[in-house]
Amino acid sequence: MKVLITGASSGIGRSLAQLLANNNEVIACGRNQAALKDLSTNRNIVSLNFDVSVKADVEQVSHTLPSLDWVILNAGTCEYINDPWHFDSALFERVIRTNLLSVGYCLEFIVPKIKRGGKLVLVSSSATILPLPRAEAYGTSKAALTYLGETLAITRPDIDVVIVHPGFVKTPLTDKNDFPMPFLLDSEDAASRIVAGLNRNIKRIEFPKRLIYIMKIISILPNSLWASLARRMKK
Ligand SMILES: NC(=O)c1ccc[n+]([C@@H]2O[C@H](COP(=O)([O-])OP(=O)(O)OC[C@H]3O[C@@H](n4cnc5c(N)ncnc54)[C@H](OP(=O)(O)O)[C@@H]3O)[C@@H](O)[C@H]2O)c1
Repeated sequence: MKVLITGASSGIGRSLAQLLANNNEVIACGRNQAALKDLSTNRNIVSLNFDVSVKADVEQVSHTLPSLDWVILNAGTCEYINDPWHFDSALFERVIRTNLLSVGYCLEFIVPKIKRGGKLVLVSSSATILPLPRAEAYGTSKAALTYLGETLAITRPDIDVVIVHPGFVKTPLTDKNDFPMPFLLDSEDAASRIVAGLNRNIKRIEFPKRLIYIMKIISILPNSLWASLARRMKK
């Protein structure tokens, strides 16, 4: 199979590229040239250096692509909003651009390369299950991404649209977090859970289950209970 992965230069995407390269041809995308060069020492990995948040670059790169079996849109960023009532709209724009608008560009130019019977995989987040303090930008981008995937899944029976909701995974993205991250996984573990789900044709891959169940139970309790707990977490 031919698999394209965005955000393959680091973290979950890098582990996915290495795992999938065991028995597939992988096109690993990112901006960090040194990291991509290092990845492409694996003979089953070729790298593509472009910024997913620049529409013209996505269009240009798409002309060089072959037909694809799986497209995994994983590139993403996280920045927290410390005081949402003095809103930082520039931060909001950066996060929405990288996590959401980029997916629109890939949908226009890269996703048409997916063969019938192929998969479009959107790496969203378990943050979509509950409104988390300081995640006004990140959570909004991921909730929109999940919605986008769910709507796309309705209209193309010949392509599997798969939504991934990881919990906390140790990567450069979460290394910046200054709060406890329950049930933290390493990126190799996250990648093998994603690939196992894809091979089993699961359409919504959520892990680790312990965290997902706890979040889902809290999400059905009255909003006021979660709001007071979340306010205490923020302090
Ligand atoms: N880690 C977690 O706990 C966690 C939990 C839930 C969901 N996720 C999601 O999983 C995905 C991967 O995250 P990660 O934790 O593995 O983070 P990471 O290690 O920081 O990796 C992010 C990747 O996205 C790429 N990227 C970012 N902006 C880009 C841009 N404008 N153009 C091209 N590539 C760009 C980066 O590549 P360059 O640096 O080369 O540009 C990098 O390869 C993200 O969508 C994230 O939201 C992560």
